[in-house]
Amino acid sequence: MINTLLNERYRILKTIGKGGFSETFLAQDVFSSALRVVKCLKLSSTPSETAQELFETEIQILYQLGHLSQQIPALFDHFVEERSLYLVQEFIDGHDLAQETEHTQTWNQTKIIELLRQVLPALQFLHSHQVIHGDIKPRNMIRRKDGQLVLIDFGAVKFASSSSSVLLFCPICRRRNRRLHAQRTTIRAIAL
Ligand SMILES: Nc1ncnc2c1ncn2[C@@H]1O[C@H](COP(=O)(O)OP(=O)(O)O)[C@@H](O)[C@H]1O
Ligand SMILES: [Mg+2]
Repeated sequence: MINTLLNERYRILKTIGKGGFSETFLAQDVFSSALRVVKCLKLSSTPSETAQELFETEIQILYQLGHLSQQIPALFDHFVEERSLYLVQEFIDGHDLAQETEHTQTWNQTKIIELLRQVLPALQFLHSHQVIHGDIKPRNMIRRKDGQLVLIDFGAVKFASSSSSVLLFCPICRRRNRRLHAQRTTIRAIAL
């Protein structure tokens, strides 16, 4: 795959991630020379339609919201080639939060408050568009070189109903509503 030119435009430089059904590459846009992140879903070996639906939702949400927030990568392109579905997104130059936490057992209060101040506006922005990230964890947050936190990996993203945040406090509704479960997971992930 390395050195392959995709869609006559994106030169694959290296592999930067490998998930359940998808693979992620650092690439260069040969038109502009800009670095891009290319994520690939192999349609031929994707066992379920759900994986494809999730990938398509990731594309849809990044197109809609990526250009509206500095804390979400912009989506520049998507295409099908050789029975694989690709998305091309903004490369966030920095390091993920897992690298910041790996040498520290506990964070002091100041650091935690600083983290919440940085990440909560991004979640609030998503929730204000009825979108739940669904996979908040240190590896899915990149601290850009300017210090700002950016959320990545919208592979588990979901649309929520506008009433979710109210229903969140109703235990019976909570059990019935999978979307709410996703939102609780977000809150729990942030709490951890
Ligand atoms: N926009 C981005 N900018 C920089 N690196 C990224 C970006 N998106 C993903 N990555 C890197 O690629 C890895 C895999 O991408 P991700 O979207 O998290 O897929 P997966 O579903 O495999 O976890 C991430 O852990 C991160 O290191
Ligand atoms: Mg990830």
